Amino acid sequence: MRVIETVSEMHAARVNMAGPVAVVPTLGGLHAGHEALMHAARARAGSVIATLFLNPTQFGQNEDLAEYPADRERDLEVMRNAGVDIVFAPPVDEMYPEGDTFVVEPGPIGAVLEGEDRPGHMRAVATVVAKLFNATRPDLAYFGEKDAQQLEVVRRMSRDLRFGIEVVPVPTVRDERNLALSSRHSYLTEPERSAAEVVYASLCAARDLWDGGQRSAPELESAIRDVIASERLATLCYAVVVDPETFEPHKEPGAVSHALALIAVTIGSTRLIDNLRLG
Ligand code: PAF
Repeated sequence: MRVIETVSEMHAARVNMAGPVAVVPTLGGLHAGHEALMHAARARAGSVIATLFLNPTQFGQNEDLAEYPADRERDLEVMRNAGVDIVFAPPVDEMYPEGDTFVVEPGPIGAVLEGEDRPGHMRAVATVVAKLFNATRPDLAYFGEKDAQQLEVVRRMSRDLRFGIEVVPVPTVRDERNLALSSRHSYLTEPERSAAEVVYASLCAARDLWDGGQRSAPELESAIRDVIASERLATLCYAVVVDPETFEPHKEPGAVSHALALIAVTIGSTRLIDNLRLG
């Protein structure tokens, strides 16, 4: 496994890579969810590039950039064990040289939910992923379904900006308590970890109602809210049931065959997101 830090070296290495070439973008702080992305990429691609870049622009001023649990040596070991061929691990000034001003604006899908709670976040994600795509020039790109809105933003970016990259979704990996794996779990205390079980439980409450025939978004959202309200350590940021393609609330309950329930919750000072497909 080779570690490359500059875009010019990455471009030179890319010329000789067996196709199709897959990329797995990461911030570091790797867990079994990232391993699932790398294994899925390895199973299909001729070559696998993983990126290791703690992108500062996607963290808000009061967010956890300084505490983010990335450990370069450990992350490289996880990548090596997952069969990655090249790690693209640029320093910040390689990705954001002085004078760099262009950004990728996702439009309405980047303005709701995570985009609303974390202003500028989706623009920053789209911009860095565009840069990583241009640096690594992949045929395939692997993203986790846990970050459903990010996945949709990247999928549309690839389509609308004609990157010609197939964005491959990989199912969420959950732990034994059904917590969707996240690097941020390391911030949770044991009581908070138990409290976090309420996140998936709340989505299951919506799914049970859906399976029983309920199609009204307000009813489904209220079921999610009720479960979250039962856990005193949990504070709800949002709970919505949307159309999975547009991320807009579905307005004609009778007509839909599927929907996506999305939730963001803070437990203590840790913000967790999760989602579940309905139907
Ligand atoms: O999901 C992440 O880890 C990050 O948002 C990504 C896609 C690597 C961009 O920095």
